[in-house]
Amino acid sequence: MLAKRVGILTSGGDAPGMNAAIRTAVRSALHFNLEPWGIYRGYHGLINGELEPMDSRAVSGIIQRGGTILKSARSEHFKTPEGRAQAVDMLRRHEIDSLLVIGGDGSLRGALSLQQEGITVVGIPATIDNDIPCTDYSIGFDTAVNTVMDAVNKIRDTASSHDRVYLVEVMGRHSGHIALYSGLACGADVILIPEVPYDLDQVCQQIQKAAQAGKTYNIIVVAEGVRRIGGGNGTTSPAMQIGRYIEEKAGIETRITILGHIQRGGVPTVRDRLLASRLAYHAIELIFRGVGGKMVGEVDQVVKAFDLDYALAQEKQLNPDYRRLAAVLASL
Ligand code: F6P
Repeated sequence: MLAKRVGILTSGGDAPGMNAAIRTAVRSALHFNLEPWGIYRGYHGLINGELEPMDSRAVSGIIQRGGTILKSARSEHFKTPEGRAQAVDMLRRHEIDSLLVIGGDGSLRGALSLQQEGITVVGIPATIDNDIPCTDYSIGFDTAVNTVMDAVNKIRDTASSHDRVYLVEVMGRHSGHIALYSGLACGADVILIPEVPYDLDQVCQQIQKAAQAGKTYNIIVVAEGVRRIGGGNGTTSPAMQIGRYIEEKAGIETRITILGHIQRGGVPTVRDRLLASRLAYHAIELIFRGVGGKMVGEVDQVVKAFDLDYALAQEKQLNPDYRRLAAVLASL
């Protein structure tokens, strides 16, 4: 059955470019004579009825803004059968028969669960972590990596003025895509990511050997999800632990910068704006044709629709070229 009303929501960690996706989704829906409804605060807002119709003017002046005008939230209740039933009921009460979900892994899993309840749902990958399979980039990743690059460029200024080791901790949850891409782009001396085991004594030896050869400072990019020293839980900062270890073992002063949530904001890059617009358009076109249960991604610059259950069952791999490059240039 062809869709008439389409709900649009953003969910999970916000990402630069989400507003570009919302803008294109609303205007594409109107192009296909669908009625776009904005749902605020993700699945949490859907359950609580925080939704309203949107027109073209509702999305003017947002393409250049980070964050999401629909706000986002995480919802434990939606993960329960009762929560999902409430979400479906809210959609049905507003005669919204289709949904565009803009978000990361958890959000897309929620999309699949609503598809299984009979709602026509299409998801597009939006997370700075870039840990979503079946798409080269997720919305937000390019902007985040550029944000990290700008920060590390500034750190390199002070690093070149002092004989220290500088550790920069970046986001990525359990993945190392942000660290790998930004570390390569910034010429980091060492890149530590969850996907590749590391040996701190080897890192110390490398730093000491370089110092003997006259290298006066080092930059180490650390993904937040790397193994902690001594196991430890996820709350300790790995960069702090690693920095202390290097200072004690290599006898070299260290300084640590944890970039945190600045990686989630900022003006979306051209790449993120175009990716967001492209994916949102194709997702709305699928919904217009009554095709649901899909995730729209961009692979080798071609837009492709994958079954959501297939996409979510895959494992996102690190770019092998960059992984090899980092092994040569940054002791990965
Ligand atoms: O998933 C995006 C992300 O920024 C991760 O990189 C990070 O670990 C997490 O969200 C932080 O979550 P929150 O914004 O809830 O603190």
